[in-house]
Amino acid sequence: MATEQASPTVSIIGRDTVRVDGPRKVTGVAQYTSDFHFPGMLYAVPVGATIANGKITKLDITTAETMPGVQAILHRGNIGKIFRSIPGPGFAGICEERRPPFEDDVVRYYGQYIALAVAATFETARAAADAVRATYAAEKANVAMHLVADDEPDEVMTTFGPRKRLDNQRGDPDAAFANAPVKLDQTYVTPFETHNPLEPHSTTAVWEGQTLTLYESSQGVVNLRSVLAQMFGLPIEQVRVITKFVGSGFGSKLWPWTLCPLAAAAARQVGKPVRLVLPRKMMFHAVGHRPLTQQRVRLGATREGKLISLHHDYIYTRSMLDAHHEDCGEATPFQYSVPNLRVSFGRTKRNVGGGADMRGPGRVPGLYATESALNELARQLNVDPVQLRIMNEPKIDEGAKLPFSSRHLLECFQLGSEKFGWSKRNPAVGSMKRDGLTLGWGMAGCSWVAARFSAAANVQLRDDGTCRVASATQDIGTGTYTILAQLASERTGVPMDKVEVELGDTSLPEGPLSGGSIATGSVVNAVFAAADEAIGSLKMIAVSTPGSPFLNHKPDELEFKDGKIFVKNDNGANGVLFSDLLRRANLRMVSGNGQSAATFGDPKPKFSTQSFGCHFAEVTWQPEIARLRVSRVVTVIDAGKIINTLAGRNQIQGAVVMGVGMALLERTEYDPQNGAPINSSLADYLVAVNADAPAVEVHFLDYPDKEINQVGARGIGEIGLAGIAAAITDAVHHATGVRVRELPVKIEDLLG
Ligand code: MOS
Repeated sequence: MATEQASPTVSIIGRDTVRVDGPRKVTGVAQYTSDFHFPGMLYAVPVGATIANGKITKLDITTAETMPGVQAILHRGNIGKIFRSIPGPGFAGICEERRPPFEDDVVRYYGQYIALAVAATFETARAAADAVRATYAAEKANVAMHLVADDEPDEVMTTFGPRKRLDNQRGDPDAAFANAPVKLDQTYVTPFETHNPLEPHSTTAVWEGQTLTLYESSQGVVNLRSVLAQMFGLPIEQVRVITKFVGSGFGSKLWPWTLCPLAAAAARQVGKPVRLVLPRKMMFHAVGHRPLTQQRVRLGATREGKLISLHHDYIYTRSMLDAHHEDCGEATPFQYSVPNLRVSFGRTKRNVGGGADMRGPGRVPGLYATESALNELARQLNVDPVQLRIMNEPKIDEGAKLPFSSRHLLECFQLGSEKFGWSKRNPAVGSMKRDGLTLGWGMAGCSWVAARFSAAANVQLRDDGTCRVASATQDIGTGTYTILAQLASERTGVPMDKVEVELGDTSLPEGPLSGGSIATGSVVNAVFAAADEAIGSLKMIAVSTPGSPFLNHKPDELEFKDGKIFVKNDNGANGVLFSDLLRRANLRMVSGNGQSAATFGDPKPKFSTQSFGCHFAEVTWQPEIARLRVSRVVTVIDAGKIINTLAGRNQIQGAVVMGVGMALLERTEYDPQNGAPINSSLADYLVAVNADAPAVEVHFLDYPDKEINQVGARGIGEIGLAGIAAAITDAVHHATGVRVRELPVKIEDLLG
């Protein structure tokens, strides 16, 4: 009965696997948010405030509203009711700026939306937005770069719940530091950074009666649905969010921003679908940024280099409206062994848009500071920086007092040193040369959290031999379509090209956010459980369908492997393809649902679950023309099982290139005169581009972490950006003798 071949004989997990959505992207078939068109659709363009602090005293829309083609000018007087949203239990209802659009006349940051022009074409809407005239009572904007913590209680409320400002303490850090034979006390600054995904934020709102559908470039459709349902006072089932393809987000699209309710309110008012795509300039205003951080790190050590004390006291900025917590000290309590430690934070308000998660939030700026401090200590002690870290390797997570589920950082250092050639390093500043260039070598360790968000998935096995796997998570360019296809293929034996993946739609079973590098780890068990349930149905059919060769068996005597049902004791002989069974039973499909519970935020974990890694970086320096380049990076990552080594390497390479930008280029400049982010274009806000990209060699260790899921995959979206800036700045010091503690490194810093 079976003639087709259905079986991947080797596992599809852990291999280089090309993107299943690649052809759709290359041919232009992939639908990004602004590719969805609707009859009668209108275009909206927001009007942004041109002050950063003060009040709107008058809004003149008379010219704008009479322009031909203009359908509406929305403002505080006519937008209609929009409610506030509140967070729910778990990771639900999260939003960084809860103020509904136009709620009051107060302007708290430059670019805050004060009106919205809606017109038949984008050009008309833009012209009308430009024609809106606002008069303000402006006050001085506070965008000062030097940070002093605001006077706040010991426990403060953040977007992610209450946090104690004394985040972590053990031993007696003050006394230990005072008595330490060797001391280091330095402050490190990371700038405001703005996410610059290729695809700007875009949203299209469509109402059908009391049902709202939002097409949105989102990293979390389920969360967005929950926030929007609250804002429009709707039952959750009357809101649907669709995100088929995302041109990346880097965290800026994790949580909803005010443009979504604006588009929905406009569509409600004009009775037509409304599209809102942010111009690049507005990407710098109201869709998040990485806060400015100022981190004081104090280390006490023995003369040999054993750490005695560690203080990590940091301050970050937030807006007048948000409570985003930039958790710089997240890794500090466990990255290295130290008996006396304190981690504390303060924050201070500025007239800027809402702060937000940006790739590696908290830990990326945090590890830049602590890893830089270790590198400086190594220099002070005349100890090799790798040796210093090896000397301070902990046995357990000393902060949580828990064993690590899996930690192989020493092996990362060893492999990285080998591949980079670290043993050839001459530590003397400016001593290494190649082809007339001065070389600088630096290194750093890194880590990132591993956990699961709750996830559900559905798997169908169909009579044409295909499989469909569905979950309301999204692919932000990182490879989630491909990962889900691999997982479904692995469990069902259906070849990759016969697996169809459906994501990015809240009508599907609730999937995880594409954030925290957690999506992949979260979906594994859910997809496997869904496949298992579908396979269970197949076995029932096999024993009950007239004419089936398995009529004399019980379901538990059957086995399913490589797409075939067979009797357990037959050692794989006489198998029948599931498609044959389904056709015989006149069934189009069997379907299974799978769930996997969250471990993120588990109050009583048994293990500390983290990924680890390290970077070795080389810079070249030409003092004659002050030309600095990152020429070479070797990165080793211990992230459990890597499901797709091709997509995995791509993630780490991309993160390292982003790290070159963090170290040398990226910084959002706010004009002290009016509070405007003035380098608000891709010409003026510098991100690392191809010409800046070094050769990046990526190595993965392969220690599956079964605490996270059955495959042992932990997640890799962010870890590659952690630590890299510290490795590069140490390489800069090695080449130039200049120690830069305020990112990015600028040419003028090196001209000294
Ligand atoms: Mo990431 S900052 O969790 O998108």
